[in-house]
Order: sequence, then structure tokens, then C-alpha cells
Amino acid sequence: MNDGSTLLDAAREAGVHITTLCYHPRLPCHAVCRMCLVNVDGEVRPQPACVTKAKEGDIVETDSKDLQEFRKTDAEWLLARHPNDCMRCEVNGSCRLQRFVSENQLEDSWEKIPRGSVEHPEHSLTDHTSPSIWRDLSKCIECGLCVEACGEPGQQQYVIGFAERGSGRLPVTVFDQSLADTNCISCGQCTLVCPVGALIETPHWHDVLHTLDARRRVSAVQVAPATRVAISEEFGMKPGTVSTGRMINALRQLGFDYVFDTNFAADLTVMEEGIEFLARLKNEKRNQKRLPLFTSCCPGWVNWVEINRPDLLPHLSTTKSPQQIHGALTKRSAFARALGSEFAEDKAEPYVVSVMPCTAKKDEAVRPGVSGDIDHVLTTRELARMIRARDIAFSALPEEGDFDSPLGESTGAAQIFGASGGVMEAIVRTASHFIGEENSLPLEWHQLRGVSAGVKTAEIPGIGKVAICNGIATAQRMLETETWRDEYVAVEVMACVGGCLGGGGEPKSMDPLVLEKRMQAIYDVDKNAVRRRSYENQDVQKLYATELKEPNSVRAHALLHTSYAARNSKRLLLMRFLDCIDRRDARGAVSLFHPDALWSTASPFGDIQGASNIEALINTRLPPRKYGPGYARHRMESAADANDLTVVTPTDERCRFSMEVETLHEGSESRMVIRKLVRKVLYSI
Ligand code: SF4
Ligand code: SF4
Ligand code: SF4
Ligand code: FES
Repeated sequence: MNDGSTLLDAAREAGVHITTLCYHPRLPCHAVCRMCLVNVDGEVRPQPACVTKAKEGDIVETDSKDLQEFRKTDAEWLLARHPNDCMRCEVNGSCRLQRFVSENQLEDSWEKIPRGSVEHPEHSLTDHTSPSIWRDLSKCIECGLCVEACGEPGQQQYVIGFAERGSGRLPVTVFDQSLADTNCISCGQCTLVCPVGALIETPHWHDVLHTLDARRRVSAVQVAPATRVAISEEFGMKPGTVSTGRMINALRQLGFDYVFDTNFAADLTVMEEGIEFLARLKNEKRNQKRLPLFTSCCPGWVNWVEINRPDLLPHLSTTKSPQQIHGALTKRSAFARALGSEFAEDKAEPYVVSVMPCTAKKDEAVRPGVSGDIDHVLTTRELARMIRARDIAFSALPEEGDFDSPLGESTGAAQIFGASGGVMEAIVRTASHFIGEENSLPLEWHQLRGVSAGVKTAEIPGIGKVAICNGIATAQRMLETETWRDEYVAVEVMACVGGCLGGGGEPKSMDPLVLEKRMQAIYDVDKNAVRRRSYENQDVQKLYATELKEPNSVRAHALLHTSYAARNSKRLLLMRFLDCIDRRDARGAVSLFHPDALWSTASPFGDIQGASNIEALINTRLPPRKYGPGYARHRMESAADANDLTVVTPTDERCRFSMEVETLHEGSESRMVIRKLVRKVLYSI
């Protein structure tokens, strides 16, 4: 027994089970649920095992008639205020309240107590506004873990906090705003600790199953590195068990036509971001202030910058994340054209799904400028639900399995993207090749690795000092110092502690060492890889030779790079509008306008007055959109200039927009809309 061990720790070490609801190994416990009460010799009342320090010689009773009665009373109180709607709940089968009822044979209470729910007419209990997180607070058991995960001991975003006191307290947002209107970065850490179905990832798995079952579309799926070292836990295997082959086989059984590896795109991200970084290093000497370069493959971090520090947008790498690069290549490259005549003629595109450890990837997939490249994003937990729903015996599947070609080959450098420090290490491995230092610099950078919080640094000869921020709270602290501007040439930020292997979409684990075990598995895969530097990826080399020419080429920029905008800015409103135009989403476009808005098109369509006329124009007068490689988008001329509204159109006109906006108030919600939009054509490229 270690110093500071609780009775719960001691019991677990001795293999004795104690039920818990408000305990989580990585967060402080406030002993609110009282489910873990135990009798300790010498104490008059039962003690909560999760916070009571264990002493040598303690005699502890974990089960007795009186303890059962305590638990029953507590459970009845919880169940009386719960909708008890398990059959339709997203966490049916993995809910800790449900398990508690069954472990303690409380089904009678479950049945007898009338179905109810938390009564809080002053707060809205359900919220489906976020593309990443759904809330249903009628299921909340008030454990407080989400408040901790989002607050001081966790992400330090303080999006949710308790309203009300005593029984009936509720974890709500500031001013009861919809989650989409808060500063939520979509990291999903709150969903990872919620013991019930009150906070979940926005579910996509039902839609994916329906689409696969219909078998009307060619389908492709990509899987991220952190998923394959974690999904095994959903099926009772030890944390760190690598299930790449089992996952590939399961995805084929689910009906996907092509099973690809996100790691292929991670190697491309390294190529593009590595060259972008070296170019910035060179240009910095000419006084361009875009260093240090911040990595941008974590959408939780990108969201944070767009919400809190838009002044830092120019520092973000413009290279898309591996998920979005893979989606763009699957739908809009030679691979898609080769699928058949409909695809070659831009009339169809494959149905593309990604499996991610991350809830923020759902949000990333609908960002203006990239939306539509991925149709649905599944978390690791959702994929496990699909596998169970189709009765696939995951543990019995063959451990061997190969990804499909050509978007399936990868190197060890791509695999370590799943761990905090991995993106930077991968970039250094390839950048050292481009600067001719490959043989003199080490392949592994252990000082950048590990799950411990805080900034990790390394001095890279020929490049400069780089830093790793493990978790968004660490990044916030680093940015407060301002010394980072001069100290580092590149900074990796992953919003989740541990990186994606601690992502909000990973299996919920009660193992205090789970991150270390998943991380070790990731580095073992890298160690055993045949190729360990991204530029060695043969399929990536072929792609450059046949389609992209070279890293950061014009074609590479069109497919593999993106742009950013501050939250609640005119630039974001314009990007959303142009995204709707590209997809011919008239309804979406109109929702961005004031009902009496004016759109001056600088085209034969002239000036369009009123939202309904704007909708009619998009629906009836624009040429039909093209699919697949023929799908053309508007592009922002500058990647990150917060005030720049200059755009390159799909027909290569360079245009400048100006905009007047107004705030519309609808009930308790308010939103900024376009009052007047004026397009001016500068010239054709
Ligand atoms: S998703 Fe992240 S930022 Fe948003 S409420 Fe949950 S923990 Fe907080
Ligand atoms: S929403 Fe979930 S994590 Fe938050 S207090 Fe309620 S039950 Fe606990
Ligand atoms: S660290 Fe990974 S899992 Fe977490 S928000 Fe970023 S990309 Fe998603
Ligand atoms: S787990 Fe100990 S009081 Fe909740």
C-alpha cells in the first residue's frame, strides 16, 4: 500500500470490488454519491472508501445488510429523478448507474419507481447544438466529474459549472447558453468521465450503420492511430493491446468497401507541415512574424485559438489535419476518379467515414472550407457500439489484417501522432532529412515524450528549440508567459492530456495508468515499423510524383491546406456563406442573413434583396454542384489574416467582399447575421 492510498485503492489492490459513481482515478473526488460506503472498525458511521485514507491494520467491511440498505436508499433517490430510459440511451450497456443497479440487485427499485426526471423548468436540460457533444441533463446524477474535467484539475475551460445547491444541483453552462455558443472547444473530456448518458459524443453511428446497410454507395473508412491501441479495452482486453488487424477485419464485416489508414495522411501532414515550417524558418530572417509555428492537427486546440486568441492564428500551420487530408484525398483525388465513370464525370463521390479518438473531429469535419470531405466521424466508443450491435466477436477476429491501397501505407512517424509529443517528433525526423542532418540527429526524441503535464522542450541542432504542450491547460499557461515568442521555433499543442490517446472519444477507463499503457503501445508500433520517417512512405512519394508534384505546391495547397477565422467574426460568417454556396445549401446560407438583407453579387444576377430571394437564387439559378474531384470551392486568399475578406472563387476570380452585420435576438439566443454583402471583382487569375 502506498502512502496516501485510500480504502478504495487498497481494496482494488487486494482484488475486492467496491461500487463507485462519483470517483475517477484522474480527478479529485468529492464523495458525493455515497455508493462506496464501507464499515471501518472503530468508526461509528460508514465511511466513503474513495476519500478515506487507508491505515495499516484497518479492518474494513465492504458488504453488509446496513451497507446494502444505504446503497438501496441512495439508488432509489437517484432513480426517482432519472428518466430510466435505458433502451433508448446511447450508453446503454456501458452506463455505471445501470451497472450499479444490476450489481446490487436493485432491479425491483428500478421497476417500482415511477419514471421521472430532474425538474428544472428554469434550465434547458437537452442541448444538441454542438456538432461534437450532446447533453441530456435529465440523466445527470450530479457526480460533478464533468465540472472537474472541464475546470481547474482538468482542461481549465470552465464551460460547465454547478447551478443550484444541495439536491437538485445541475452542471449548466454560463447563462444557460447552448453549448455551441459557449467557449467549449469540443475536446469531449467531460463525456469521457460522465458515468451515465448525460454527456455524450454527438452520435453518428446510427447513420453510418443505415448507410452501410443500404449498400447504395461505395464506402471508405479511415482509422486514426490512437483508436487501434484503445478499442481492445471495449472488449475486455488489457489497455495497450494493439488491435489494428481486428479493427480492419471488423470494419470489413460492417460493410466498408475500403479500409484505409489515417496514418497515410499523417505522413502527408508531416511532409506539408515540415516544408511549411522550414520555409517559415527561412522567411523569419526576413522579419515575418509567424514563428513559432503552432501545429494545427488538433481541432480542440484550433478551436481554442479561434475562440480565445485569434491574434495567434497566423502562427497555426495551414496544413490540414490527417483526418481532413485523408478525406480530401479519398473524395477528390485520382483514387475517386478510378472508382467508375460516374465518379470520373464528377456525378458521384464515395461515402467517407473516419474513426477517431476525438469528439472535436466531428466539429472539424463541418468546418467551412473542408465540410463534406468526411461524411461521418465515429469515436472509438461508437465503433465499439456498432461492432456489438452487429454481434461481431471482436476478440475472436484475426489479429492480422492489411489496409487497402493506395491510401493505407504508413510509417512509424505517423503512428506516434496519437501520443503527445508525437507530431513534433515526426516533423523533426523529416525536417532533419530536408536540412541534410538525418544521419547526425537521433530518430527518437525521448525528452518530448510522456503523459506528464507541463511544457517539454528539445534543442534541435540546425533547427532551434521546440516545445510540447501536453493538454490545453499547459498551453494556456505557456501563452501567459510571452517568452515563448522568442524561445521556440515550433510548438506542438494537443488539447487532451496524453494527446489523442487520452482523447474524449476513447474508451472510458478506470485504470489510473491507462494513458501510459496506450502510449507504450504506440511507441512499440513505431519501433517495429519498417519505415519510421514520413518521407520514406512509398505511396506518399508516388502521390507527389503523380498528382501533387511537391510539398506545398499549388495543387497540394488546394487539397491539403486550410484557413482560419476568429469566432464571431465577419470573416467566419463569410466563410460559412461561401461554404453553403459551394454545397448549394440554400437554407444554410439564408440562415446567415437578416430577412431583409441585400446581396450585391457583382455578376449578371445583380443585387438580390431579401433572404427568400437569396434562397431562390441559390436553388434555381446557380449551376448544379459537382461531386468528387470536380467539386470546386471558394478559398480565402490569406490563411489566417483575421480581417481579410479577399476570396478566390472556383472560377479563379479574385474578389473582395465587404459586409454589414446585425445582431438578431431570438428568445434567449442572439446571433450575428449579414445585413449587407457586397462582392467586388478585383481580377481573374
Ligand atoms: S467538451 Fe471540453 S471544453 Fe467542452 S464542456 Fe466538455 S470538457 Fe469543457
Ligand atoms: S453530467 Fe455526467 S459527469 Fe456531469 S455531473 Fe451529471 S452525471 Fe456527473
Ligand atoms: S488531443 Fe487529439 S483527441 Fe484531444 S482534441 Fe486534440 S485531436 Fe482531439
Ligand atoms: S464513489 Fe465514493 S462517494 Fe462516490
